[in-house]
Amino acid sequence: MTDIKTTIANEVHGLKKTFRHEPHSLSKIRASLESDKSTTSNFIELLEKHHDYMKESIVILTDNLASLTEKQTNLDRFLHLLNMHGKAEEETLYEVLISNKSKESRLEGFCGKEEHDHVFLISKELQSLNYKAHWTDEIEAKAKVIASLCANHIKEEEGVMYHVAKKNISDQEMQKLSELYLSKCAVYINEMLDAPRKFESSVVYH
Ligand SMILES: [Fe+2]
Ligand SMILES: [Fe+2]
Repeated sequence: MTDIKTTIANEVHGLKKTFRHEPHSLSKIRASLESDKSTTSNFIELLEKHHDYMKESIVILTDNLASLTEKQTNLDRFLHLLNMHGKAEEETLYEVLISNKSKESRLEGFCGKEEHDHVFLISKELQSLNYKAHWTDEIEAKAKVIASLCANHIKEEEGVMYHVAKKNISDQEMQKLSELYLSKCAVYINEMLDAPRKFESSVVYH
């Protein structure tokens, strides 16, 4: 008789696969930054669009039945996006929230920064475990934890922080933040994509 946990895992995997589509490549995302300069003026919509790119990999990293190659490729993609979006978000939105006169804004900014610090720490640990060259249970566990933490963080930002931001930041300032955010994203993604790529496509499992 099939174990109930296995049945549920199979069903969740099947369900996720139905919703899943091929994640946008980093090169496509880089190209979209350029077109967003002229088409997307809404800062919050832009941040949410970048969350959606990250969610494409979160779904795979939290799926127990995704293949190892899929997980390894998506961990690499996810950490690059985390670096781009996370740093650019901190240097624009969080800075403004932290220096805002409303206590609610300041707390949101500080909480967000605290959560970023934790996920960046796990990201560093994953890099020191050399996840690009091989795959271990420890890497897989850390990948799952960082993806779940980020899923929660994104939910919190979209459900609370961004509403607080809309309430306390003027439209004019939002417009400036949007431009600054895009230019910072471009710097971060260029640094990553133009650096020598060492990623091995074949997974070695030990
Ligand atoms: Fe964030
Ligand atoms: Fe965010």
